[in-house]
Amino acid sequence: MDYKKLVEAAINARKMSYTPYSNFKVGAALLTKSGKTFTGCNIESAAYTPTNCAERTALFKAVSEGEREFLAIAVVGAPAEGESNFCYPCGVCRQMLKEFVSDDFILVIAKSAEEYKVHKFGEILPYSFGPEDLMI
Ligand code: THU
Repeated sequence: MDYKKLVEAAINARKMSYTPYSNFKVGAALLTKSGKTFTGCNIESAAYTPTNCAERTALFKAVSEGEREFLAIAVVGAPAEGESNFCYPCGVCRQMLKEFVSDDFILVIAKSAEEYKVHKFGEILPYSFGPEDLMI
């Protein structure tokens, strides 16, 4: 899997983020098992709570186009100006990803195309609640 290429797609997606309130810009790129990449950025709202994170934007775009099987996501997030840092998915995005991914789904958390950390989903949402818990 080409992590660098996925990170570059996330970096590009971040350019579209709409963040008049936080000025914190995030881009995500989600790779499907079929080999397609869906990107997303965060989109904020004057009412604050309707804000959508970059990860969910990418996920919703993919699912709404018929994709339900995913291999990996790259995430790049930092304030518009200033130093970049590793930005991990928020709790809501972790829970939403849980709907579609298994513990071996890969997260590439990047500061740049050269500097990134790789995790498995099971590490960032252990002891989770998911669809299988409702299959009774
Ligand atoms: N945000 C994301 O898009 N993804 C994350 O992983 C963390 C937070 C967004 C939401 C909001 O627009 C801004 O970053 C500050 O929380």
